[in-house]
Amino acid sequence: MNALIETLESWIDYRDDVTASGLSIGFVPTMGALHEGHLELIRKARQETDCVVVSVFLNPTQFNDPKDYEQYPKTLDRDRELAADAGADVVLAPSKDVLYPDGYNYKICESHLSSFMEGEHRPGHFDGVLTIVMKLFNLVKPDRAYFGEKDFQQLKLIEGMVEAFFLKTKVVAVPTVRESDGLAMSSRNALLTEEGRKRAPVFHQNLTAQKTADEAREALTKEGINVEYVEDYEDRRLGAVVIDNVRLIDNVAIKNSI
Ligand code: PAF
Repeated sequence: MNALIETLESWIDYRDDVTASGLSIGFVPTMGALHEGHLELIRKARQETDCVVVSVFLNPTQFNDPKDYEQYPKTLDRDRELAADAGADVVLAPSKDVLYPDGYNYKICESHLSSFMEGEHRPGHFDGVLTIVMKLFNLVKPDRAYFGEKDFQQLKLIEGMVEAFFLKTKVVAVPTVRESDGLAMSSRNALLTEEGRKRAPVFHQNLTAQKTADEAREALTKEGINVEYVEDYEDRRLGAVVIDNVRLIDNVAIKNSI
């Protein structure tokens, strides 16, 4: 099992030792409930950096729906084991009080990309994400930080924040890991019923197969899926649906022929 660090003081001691030894830090921020998608990020960090740090923090400020926050799976012991097997050296799991000494009076806001798609349907979500990522980057001081393309809008916003605030961390994007039927790996998949899990791949299938975002939205609605949005952004098609009261997001590259 790898080291578990929960206090600021022990983290700073650990980090000072790592940097004094001239080792590079690879960072994988997570909210726990680790799955193959996270493990892929950890493996990549293992290949590219000397010390791999995984944070497990269920960040309350990015949940616009309190029920969603409550029902999010919490599996720290298992997360530690999985992270260690994938090559993590340390799991950083501070409490809310440690990470929000200001009670969230200070926040990072973005005013363009964060206002549509996920941002429109989850008010305040990206303020919470950008704020916690900035806090974690300031604490961890990673050379490289790994994010999955599944949260594509989040990835673009974090890349933008790094550029806007001249942060030294290199953001590394890692392709979405999928189940064999195409469903994107997500901690929320565990909340689907057996029936919902069977229906869920239709989301990815239609994002990929339909010519336009409108057609994908219509086809999913016809399948009885509750669609929040399907939109094309730059060269990707992004969407969010609700199946079984479980909100799923995904995105795919738009094919050239479209
Ligand atoms: O992608 C996630 O799991 C979260 O949004 C992140 C980046 C760990 C911030 O809480």
